[in-house]
Order: sequence, then structure tokens, then C-alpha cells
Amino acid sequence: MYNVAIVGSTGNVGRKFLEILEERNFPIKNIYLFASKRSAGSYLKFKGQEYLVEETCEDTIKNKKIDIALFSAGGDTSLKFAPIFSSYGAVVIDNSSAWRMNKDVPLVVPEVNPEDLKNHNGIIANPNCSTIQAMVPLKALLDNYGIKRIVYSTYQAVSGAGMQGIKDLEDGLKGLEPKKFPYQIAGNCLPHIDVFLENGYTKEEMKMIEETRKILHSNDLKITATTVRVPVLNSHSESINVELNSPFELEDIFKLFEKTEGLTVYDNLNELKYPTALNVSGKDDVYVGRIRRDFSLDNGLNLWVVADNIRKGAALNAVQIAEVLIKNEWL
Ligand code: A2P
Repeated sequence: MYNVAIVGSTGNVGRKFLEILEERNFPIKNIYLFASKRSAGSYLKFKGQEYLVEETCEDTIKNKKIDIALFSAGGDTSLKFAPIFSSYGAVVIDNSSAWRMNKDVPLVVPEVNPEDLKNHNGIIANPNCSTIQAMVPLKALLDNYGIKRIVYSTYQAVSGAGMQGIKDLEDGLKGLEPKKFPYQIAGNCLPHIDVFLENGYTKEEMKMIEETRKILHSNDLKITATTVRVPVLNSHSESINVELNSPFELEDIFKLFEKTEGLTVYDNLNELKYPTALNVSGKDDVYVGRIRRDFSLDNGLNLWVVADNIRKGAALNAVQIAEVLIKNEWL
């Protein structure tokens, strides 16, 4: 049994951590909830009991003998507090982008590269939500055919932008001004997630590119990405165009995906079966459909990949990382 802390417990992902830990009957001795000063003193429910939310600071951390700290409180909080939790003996699993590209920090999707967890130094990074869901089918393709190039186009839900992202969609439907997004999201699509960089890409797009290379251990993979915020409450959808190194039969791709852990094939055009954000919300697996050949190039394949961005894209993936650490005694 373990002492588990949740940092950012009052947020969208933080609350989902609680739900998933309860659902999976995670072996918890004590649970400790942290957030900012703003919500310190409030209470959250876990397994039918109320738990106090405390301010995140060294004083509230130090005497708790925390084994595992699940973080989802933004990059600045992670940069500051992950090393502090780690210095008091906790293994931090961080949902922000702060540590992901640090070479001493494993970046892990448990179905894809669990062995990278073995040599952690007390901080482990949970990949970006859009990256996580893409990795599950792409790893299977990489291992069986090799990958030459990937083109990502995403359709990302507002829940990925936290509580205020959801509120902006609700407010926009009432004609109120947005606070989180630069323009109204209701009835709109914004090709702008996270900040713009000098190369003209957004940080979200570069995260997908760089994190994919790190997780798949393929530094020279050719990848491009366009990430778009859409007026969907929850679950990210992605069009993934992939050029494989070797020829394939479509039916073999279906067979491969059907036996891939963490992936559900939902693809039957006669029955109008393809994954959608509404179908997939609340599910643990990544869903793939619209599996078809890209006729415009040799060995080209198109996929439509949908996952619950708060579950598999965030909280669930982090809890699965903790489960792998426990199972292998890598804590
Ligand atoms: P708080 O409720 O006190 O603001 P979301 O992205 O869904 O909005 O959630 C962000 C989470 O991160 C919330 O739990 C929020 O707590 C927490 N948080 C924000 N800033 C800090 C901080 N400086 N220290 C600790 N937690 C923070």
C-alpha cells in the first residue's frame, strides 16, 4: 500500500486522477490532496470520504512520506515542486510539459515503452495528450513495417485546456467573451494550441513531433503536425497520415491493430462504425477507425484515432505508469 499525493487535485485532470484511482482500486494507504493557496481548505471526495485540499508548499509536503505524486498543476508548479517531492522520497509522475524533453526523465506510454521507466531518477513525464493516443497504433506500425513519415492533424477538445477551456465553450454558447482562448471557440475552430514559436509552429505541434521521436526512440523520424482546438467538450480526434517503410495489406493492418494492447478497432463502413469524440469519452482504450490506404503514395496509410484526452491522454496514462512501477518494483 502506498501514500499517494495529487498536486492540482481541484483541476480537471486532478479530479479524474481521484476517479481513476478509485475505479482501479489502486493500493492506497493515504491520499493527500494539494492545489494552490486559492483552493486550500476546500474538500474533495474520494471513496465516499471527504479529504482536505492543502496548499502545495514544502511544509505541507515534508512529513507525509509520499511514495507517488501525481501532478497536473501546470508547468511552473511542476518545475518548482517536482524536485521537492522527489527530494522527500516520492516518485513524481508529471502531466505538464515541463520535464518531458529532459534527457534524464522518462517519457512513457505504458503500452509502448514501459521499459524506459526502469531508470527513472524520481521524476517521470506523462506525454502530451495528443501524443499519447497516436503512439498506441504507431508503435505497432513501427515495429512491423517501419515508419518513414507522419502527418498529424488534430481536432482537440476544450477539456484539454482545463476548467477555463470548458467554461469558454459554455460561455461562448451564451454569447459571452472567451477568457482562455484568443477567440470564441463555440461554433469555431482555432488552429492555435499553446503558444506560437519562431518556426511558425505552435508549441503543441512541436510537442507532438519531439515527444513522438523520444517515445519511439526514433530521432530522425520525419513528422509534421497541425493542431486545432474544436468546440468539442471532451476527447481528442486525430487524422494520422503515415508513410510506412514496407508494403502492407490492409487486412494485415486490421489484424495487427486488433491484437494491439490498449487499442480498439472500430471500423465498419457498412454499419457507419467509426470512432467519435462522444462515443469514446469515458473509455480507457484508444480507438482507431477509417483505416484506409493513402493512394497518393507508396505504402501510405490513413487513420482516424480518437481517445478520451482526460483519461488515456492524461490521468489514466499516469496511473498506468504508477501501476507499472509497482508491478516491476521500480518505485
Ligand atoms: P486551484 O484550484 O487552487 O487553482 P485546471 O488546468 O483544470 O484549471 O487545473 C489546474 C490545477 O492546478 C488546479 O488544481 C489548480 O489549483 C492547480 N494549481 C494552479 N496553480 C498552482 C500552484 N501555483 N500551486 C499548486 N497548484 C496549482
